[in-house]
Amino acid sequence: MAEQFVGLKSSSLRAEIRLIKPCLRLEGEVVLPGDKSISHRSVILNSLAKGRAKIDNFAPGRDCLATVRCLRALGVKIDKRGSRDSTALLVSGTGSNGLEEANNVLNAENSATTMRLLGGLLASQPFLSVITGDASLRNRPMGRLIEPLRLMGAEIWGRGRDSFAPLVIKGKKLQGIDFTLPVPSAQIKSAILLAGLFARGNTVLHQTILSRDHTERMLKRMGASLESRGNSISLLPLSNPLVPLNVRVPGDISSAAYFMVAGAIHSNARIVLRDCGINPTRTGIIDILLAMGARLKIDNERLEASEPLSDIVVESSELKGIEVSGDIVPRLIDEIPVLAVAGCVAKGKTVIRNAGELRVKESDRIATVVSELSRLGAKIEPLPDGMVIYGGRPLSGTEVDSHFDHRLAMSLAVAGLVAKGETIIKHAEVAQVSYPAFWQTLYQGQAKSSPKLAERKV
Ligand code: S3P
Repeated sequence: MAEQFVGLKSSSLRAEIRLIKPCLRLEGEVVLPGDKSISHRSVILNSLAKGRAKIDNFAPGRDCLATVRCLRALGVKIDKRGSRDSTALLVSGTGSNGLEEANNVLNAENSATTMRLLGGLLASQPFLSVITGDASLRNRPMGRLIEPLRLMGAEIWGRGRDSFAPLVIKGKKLQGIDFTLPVPSAQIKSAILLAGLFARGNTVLHQTILSRDHTERMLKRMGASLESRGNSISLLPLSNPLVPLNVRVPGDISSAAYFMVAGAIHSNARIVLRDCGINPTRTGIIDILLAMGARLKIDNERLEASEPLSDIVVESSELKGIEVSGDIVPRLIDEIPVLAVAGCVAKGKTVIRNAGELRVKESDRIATVVSELSRLGAKIEPLPDGMVIYGGRPLSGTEVDSHFDHRLAMSLAVAGLVAKGETIIKHAEVAQVSYPAFWQTLYQGQAKSSPKLAERKV
């Protein structure tokens, strides 16, 4: 496992250990980072548009910055404004035929969204591309991308008999397809749609279970001929270039989830989350926390650039265990590590099933969540496609490891808030992948009633 993930470490992140101690009160207002999924799409699609667009609140994490770097290497002019926590981008779209061959290998770092979305796009562009990533990403399945693209006529190859990155792509004119997605993956759906924009003939996709629909919403706003009907999507190739779209990216519900769970499980908490995206394909975590008995309120609901957002207030709650399975799973797949923490504190049993996709995320999240929460004293058992958590047992702080998985690092911090004693999180620097300001935000929420928390760099 260790060797598998050295890639991220070597790509200039300094190893960091974080200490979490319980606190008497947890409170504050959280300004969330921009949504990661919407940020990737806003910069990719605006790169293909003809003209300039401004993207506000672009996600500051390393994943989205990897997408920006790849697009710059493909000849797109992208200027960055802003600070560590909030970034604005000015994108000068190149129009439909404007991308250029990169003069080096593209690096998606830890970001599967970067690799898969750009993989689909580059398969349709008239030049050669090679795209790689860190050791974690090079172990994640790419056959699911290569297979449908080949059905469209793509010339794309991967390591391990076309299973893994690096990917080599000899771009060419593709053919639209009529395809049923075998896994409910928004990355694969989006990759095929991006390829379909430049193909000959229509592309029709059928989903057995719905996945996040940010690509579809944005493409429609930018003038593409795309229709979603039930679980099917129909796309015509572009006859005119996409129209640039100024976007203010809503707060990331996946980042908000840490504070939703923290507020709900802490015995003396009130947290306000501002401007949080609540696209219904992403709100499974809210539905499940409410069903577990969380005191969570949605306020000030509105729509910006076709994406719904709201403020969310969460307060100390008495949670009860729940069963999570079926169609809701893709609507909360990234939140399962922190949901498992809620399950540890809830009364009774929490069962998570139909979540085999967790095995092929940034780490094998069934194995890593079970191993690290067990270290903290949780009674939790793995299932082939999920886990069973026997809640209500006290947690005790000890040394735990993020396994270089950003979502695990932050979930363990939330567990540390309710564990007895000190929780020491190794390789905590990985939170920068999606939420660079996470630690600072968490410490501020604790600061009012706790001694200042220690932070150690190694
Ligand atoms: C994402 C889709 C999901 C999710 C990932 C982001 C996206 O992955 O887990 O963090 O932005 O399209 P899959 O497409 O593999 O389900």
